[in-house]
Amino acid sequence: MEVENYMGGGSDMQHRDALDVVQEFSYELSKMSGKCLDIGSGPGDITKDMLLPMLGENAEIVGADVSQAMVNYARKNYCDSKRLSYMVLNIETSELPADQIGKYDNALSFYCLHWCNDLRRAFENIYKLLRPNGKALTMFIGRHGGFNAYTELQQVPKYRSYLQDAHLYVPYFQRRLCTDIRGSLREMLADIGFEILHCSTREKSYKYSQQSLKGEILFECPGKLYYIYIYIYIYIYIYIYITLLSIEY
Ligand SMILES: C[S@@+](CC[C@H](N)C(=O)[O-])C[C@H]1O[C@@H](n2cnc3c(N)ncnc32)[C@H](O)[C@@H]1O
Repeated sequence: MEVENYMGGGSDMQHRDALDVVQEFSYELSKMSGKCLDIGSGPGDITKDMLLPMLGENAEIVGADVSQAMVNYARKNYCDSKRLSYMVLNIETSELPADQIGKYDNALSFYCLHWCNDLRRAFENIYKLLRPNGKALTMFIGRHGGFNAYTELQQVPKYRSYLQDAHLYVPYFQRRLCTDIRGSLREMLADIGFEILHCSTREKSYKYSQQSLKGEILFECPGKLYYIYIYIYIYIYIYIYITLLSIEY
């Protein structure tokens, strides 16, 4: 997603939901000290303005994002603190940089991990990045009715060519038609070696404004398709299942 699109109204829902989690887990966040990794830090506003103030005084955050454009934007706009830095990192990588392994006391991730094609590898990497007794708090989409618009539009021959990779835009567990998201996630995490302190699914609704809806469109399309897409999007009442967990090992 373009950084400007995201900042221009495409991130209102993410802000609202990150704030909910941060408030609910404020005690746990205040106990986080040392080095903290924010995975999928995006433009850096949440990292700097919402997360950093909640952590212990001696905590520092490294924001990590797969997108160089996001990292550049964050460095330019949300980096004026000695306790904050950004780097490019793909959390799904098959080879983590050796100097990052076991370097972090805590890991945070908001609205990112559902994009992973290999969620297991992403969590294996989080496990490797953490020090012994490290903690993680992550929140990501389990299922989002709005994303069905991608797969529905893909069935229309006229639009198929624009949506060859529609499945990539559908959240990880939804893509796999998983009926027990919480159970599947718990199993995956326990198998990797995490001790699960809390894991829950939350049902949420959000009414998109025209501006925030534009920010959610993740594929290139001609104007006409755009309006049809918006039509479908609006008529599907949007429910999001948010998975929230905190992990210790
Ligand atoms: C919706 S934004 C969330 C930004 C911020 N955390 C928030 O809550 O507003 C998702 C971010 O995750 C990043 N991302 C997606 N896949 C990733 C991956 N495999 N590794 C690291 N970052 C990733 C995207 O580039 C994007 O900046």
